Amino acid sequence: MHFGFMKDISVKNSNLVVGLDAGTTKVCVIVAEAGPAGKTDERNPCSGLKIIGVGRALSRGIKKGVITNIENTADSIREAVRAAETAAGVDIKAVYTGITGAHIGCFSSRGVIAVKEKEIGQKEVDSVIDAASAVALPFDREMLHVIPTGYTVNGQNGITDPRGMGGVRLETDVRIITGAATSIQNLIKSCQKAGLEVVDVILQPYASAGAVLTDDEKELGVAIIDIGGGTADLMLFHEGHICHAAVLPIGGNNFTNDVAVGLRVPAQEAEILKIKYGCSMLSMARDDEEIEVGHAGGKIIRKIPKSHLVEILQPRAEELFGLLKKEIMGNDFHKHMNSGVVLTGGAVLMKGMDVMAENMLELPVRIGAFGGAEGPADIINNPVYSAGVGLALYGAEKESADQRDTGGNMFTRVKGWVGGMLKIRS
Ligand SMILES: Nc1ncnc2c1ncn2[C@@H]1O[C@H](COP(=O)(O)OP(=O)(O)OP(=O)(O)O)[C@@H](O)[C@H]1O
Ligand SMILES: [Mg+2]
Repeated sequence: MHFGFMKDISVKNSNLVVGLDAGTTKVCVIVAEAGPAGKTDERNPCSGLKIIGVGRALSRGIKKGVITNIENTADSIREAVRAAETAAGVDIKAVYTGITGAHIGCFSSRGVIAVKEKEIGQKEVDSVIDAASAVALPFDREMLHVIPTGYTVNGQNGITDPRGMGGVRLETDVRIITGAATSIQNLIKSCQKAGLEVVDVILQPYASAGAVLTDDEKELGVAIIDIGGGTADLMLFHEGHICHAAVLPIGGNNFTNDVAVGLRVPAQEAEILKIKYGCSMLSMARDDEEIEVGHAGGKIIRKIPKSHLVEILQPRAEELFGLLKKEIMGNDFHKHMNSGVVLTGGAVLMKGMDVMAENMLELPVRIGAFGGAEGPADIINNPVYSAGVGLALYGAEKESADQRDTGGNMFTRVKGWVGGMLKIRS
């Protein structure tokens, strides 16, 4: 398949797709090529995906996942896109991009239709999802995803794909994910200002989940937590589908700010200290270790026990995982998390985050990155890039589903925006 928005595609009929992750600390652009066979190894969600170019820029204009300055965000996007174009040798015209922020909401809905045909087909599936998504939203909310979690045909529930079945009554339960209209529009405007067409806007943790979690984990029950610079994004799966999503406005930047205030150092130095010596558990820090710290506004260097730094970081980690625990315990979701918790995003790279998470959440925890993709060594298995790679993977899967079935992908359908804000490729 040849995408109209790319040129200089080196491999004929290649499936090139671009993910744009506009995060609080960095904007990253992933250019990937999807293999013709799709996923080649069930245990590796990104198997078959080849990352051919990555571009990165400092994020200016995004706070806690939400765009606060369109011009600055567009500049960062432009810079990251240019870097990715150079790395991949392609001209990027359109992207799959992700959204996060505390404005994200998630609720359930149900749709029912009478089946007039002898057999249920894609048309009926589309109709029943449309019926389930016909809910009145406040004027300032937009639907991001409508995700069917199962179907019922003539009263028989637990059906994952009703196509080809006979019946007179088709029902579906869906999870609807919504976001603030202004935030979504600002993201699209920033991309457009940077000269890009937005093919789709995807919830960032949904994209990360696609790249990091295996089908088995989603089936057994798993929580993915993407902790970035500004937000901690949580998504819970059970029996293969989403049961909850929440975004907390706490991320790695809060740890950095705490260090800056606690040690009275500039934010830049606090960031360096956190990355070099940071640890979220006092019990993991050696008593006798000392670190050098500079005074704010001056060049005076002082030595402090490393435990002082950890004493600042630990309460923030406890607060964060305490809030996440409340979300996971709500509605007894934790009882279904048989595969435990997968942590991803840059902030989980701090020493002790996985142990702290395990202690606080009382579930097995692993740090995960996108599994099985081919690409540059510094990108592969780096949890910082999970969302960006997930966005590219989402795009690749959607393009191939759209090609296979012009009626759309029935398992995870994304609605177009009213008023033509988004152009969905067909
Ligand atoms: N080795 C490390 N140790 C501790 N923290 C780290 C490390 N590497 C990165 N971080 C932190 O990770 C955060 C950035 O992570 P990431 O790139 O996933 O965020 P983002 O996607 O820009 O933000 P968000 O997803 O919240 O909008 C920063 O706060 C940074 O300090
Ligand atoms: Mg992020």
